[in-house]
Amino acid sequence: MAKNTLTITDNRTGKQYELPIENDTIRAGDLRQIKVSADDFGMMTYDPAFTNTASCKSKITFIDGDRGILRYRGYPIEELAEHSNYLETAYLVVKGELPDRKRLQMWEHNVKVHTMVHENIKKFMEGFRYDAHPMGMLVGTIGALSTFYPDAANIHDLESRRLQTRRLIGKLPTLAAFAYRQSRGLPYIYPDNDLSYTGNFLSMLFRMTELKYKPNPVLERALDLLFILHADHEQNCSTNAMRSVGSSQVDPYSATAAAVAALYGPLHGGANEAVVRMLTEIGSVDRIPELIKKVKAGERRLMGFGHRVYKNYDPRAKILKKAAYEVFEVTGANPLIEIALELERIALQDDYFVSRKLYPNVDFYSGIIYQAMGFPTAMFPVLFAIPRTSGWMSQWAEMVRDEEQKIARPRQVYIGEGPRSYIPIEKRPVPTMREEAVAEEI
Ligand SMILES: CC(C)(COP(=O)(O)OP(=O)(O)OC[C@H]1O[C@@H](n2cnc3c(N)ncnc32)[C@H](O)[C@@H]1OP(=O)(O)O)[C@@H](O)C(=O)NCCC(=O)NCCS
Repeated sequence: MAKNTLTITDNRTGKQYELPIENDTIRAGDLRQIKVSADDFGMMTYDPAFTNTASCKSKITFIDGDRGILRYRGYPIEELAEHSNYLETAYLVVKGELPDRKRLQMWEHNVKVHTMVHENIKKFMEGFRYDAHPMGMLVGTIGALSTFYPDAANIHDLESRRLQTRRLIGKLPTLAAFAYRQSRGLPYIYPDNDLSYTGNFLSMLFRMTELKYKPNPVLERALDLLFILHADHEQNCSTNAMRSVGSSQVDPYSATAAAVAALYGPLHGGANEAVVRMLTEIGSVDRIPELIKKVKAGERRLMGFGHRVYKNYDPRAKILKKAAYEVFEVTGANPLIEIALELERIALQDDYFVSRKLYPNVDFYSGIIYQAMGFPTAMFPVLFAIPRTSGWMSQWAEMVRDEEQKIARPRQVYIGEGPRSYIPIEKRPVPTMREEAVAEEI
């Protein structure tokens, strides 16, 4: 029978090493025995951006990028999108199993009792400039929550972890809505716990003078669907930030602030905004070939296309394409959809995109839906952060419980100067213009 090992020959020494294979991986630490001499540090791998390195073992989310599969805790995203709602999915992501009726009711209650925020948080938010980006406000206020809940530092206590998870999932919509109202110069609206999770969020965003806000059920469901699709996506940039910062054993509010900061970046949470900008810039269907030409010439990227992991149609994009039409029934069609559909049709027939396995990703359709629902583009990453909180907290708790995990501390390959002696300032040579230019480049 074939052995589940990897044999490596070091051609520098002629020595052979047999490394165990587990889950189709070898342990990077096993490479350290490969040395030229006894005082040699040992072999490492070089993997910028961790494109081929598993940093953890996880039971939460499964992705098969080649086949376009996404599952939370084993359940296909398509089935959750069709039958579940966000809070039930969040329970699944956090706790590992779908709840029975009683547990679901308790969970909903336990999350909803945490929708209020301390009045000082409100004052704190009022201190932001009138034009502050809502995502920047979210980073700041989530970080500030750690000062309101010092008990959260008790990360090894199961009850404390559970409490902070419910608190964060409960408070995120409130903080997000306050950030939006602040940027619009509108008074904050307190949570209405008679409404659903997304219904209450819509109320806190859009309620004006009416005594009771009645969310449109189609939009409420569409937002819920978007929340289900964004609940987790295994070790992406923000989740990696959550785990990495959390590995220092800081409280989960501080770690979540770091995750939100990662999501703020245009390559992560900002891609759907870029899609809307690109489609607006194209303006009409007849101008699509012009853009495709530029993309193929390497002058620009087709935003919302391609993915580090999916080399097939992103399953979330498929679900959203269908949902877009249900939203447009209520809001009226977003004119950008015609351009998006035609762009997708042309790209999927073009060898440039086919040969590189570039398919629409989740951001290709989410921005168009958010825009039709009346959200300003600055709110798009905020709408991503709310549901991803369940994923972040679940990943964080898994990391805290994992006995193999330690403080995250990658290695480097040092390529700088060798040892040299300090030169007193008066003795340092005057740099040439070229040397100065090089220094400025850095
Ligand atoms: C998501 C993304 C960063 C993944 O990048 P990646 O895994 O590092 O893929 P690469 O940059 O190695 O791309 C591989 C090839 O496809 C091309 N490519 C990738 N995405 C492309 C895009 N959106 N438009 C045009 N060409 C693209 C690259 O130029 C490269 O071509 P080459 O082999 O001729 O050089 C990238 O696809 C992208 O920038 N997409 C647009 C932004 C976006 O939608 N982001 C949201 C992701 S959810």
